[in-house]
Amino acid sequence: MKKTIIIYGTTTGNTLIVAEEIESMFNEQNMEVKLAEVTDVQTSYLPDYDLIILGCSTWGEGELQDDFISFEKEMNKIDLKGKQAACFGPGDSSYVFFCQAVDILEARLESSGAKIIIEGLKIDGDVDKNLGQIRDWTENILKITEN
Ligand SMILES: Cc1cc2nc3c(=O)[nH]c(=O)nc-3n(C[C@H](O)[C@H](O)[C@H](O)COP(=O)(O)O)c2cc1C
Repeated sequence: MKKTIIIYGTTTGNTLIVAEEIESMFNEQNMEVKLAEVTDVQTSYLPDYDLIILGCSTWGEGELQDDFISFEKEMNKIDLKGKQAACFGPGDSSYVFFCQAVDILEARLESSGAKIIIEGLKIDGDVDKNLGQIRDWTENILKITEN
C-alpha cells in the first residue's frame, strides 16, 4: 500500500489544523499516513514514503516558518526521484509574498527529483473558514494517487 507522510511546521497552530484535516481524510479512506511535526523528523526519513506532503506557513517577508528552514536546506542532499509530492500552507494575502513557503518547498521537492502532483494549497486567512477548500484539495490528491 502507498505510504504517505505529512510534515508540518507551525508557529501559532494553523498549519497543524490543516495537516490534521488532511490526515483525517486519508484515514477515512484507510490510507497509510503518518503525521509529523518538522522538528520531529529528519530528511533521511523521506525516501521511506511514496507520497510526501509538506505544510508550512509563511513568515517574515515570504520566508519559511522557522522550524522548516534547516529541514528545507537539508533536503538538497536527498534523492526523491520517483516520489509524489504536494505542498500546502496558510498565509495572508495582505502580505506581498502570499504563501511563498508553498512555492519554496515545491521548488525544493522538484530539485530533489520529486513530482509535484497538484497545485499547492494556499489558504488565505482563517483556516477554520476554509475547510471546504482543504477537503476539495485532499480529495483531489486521493483521486490522483488512487492507482
Ligand atoms: C510577522 C508576520 C509575518 C507574516 N508574513 C507573511 C507573508 O509574508 N506571507 C503570507 O502569506 N503570510 C504571512 N503571515 C501570515 C501567517 O503565515 C499566517 O498567520 C499563518 O496562518 C500562520 O500559520 P501558523 O500558525 O501555522 O504558523 C505573516 C504573519 C505574521 C504575524
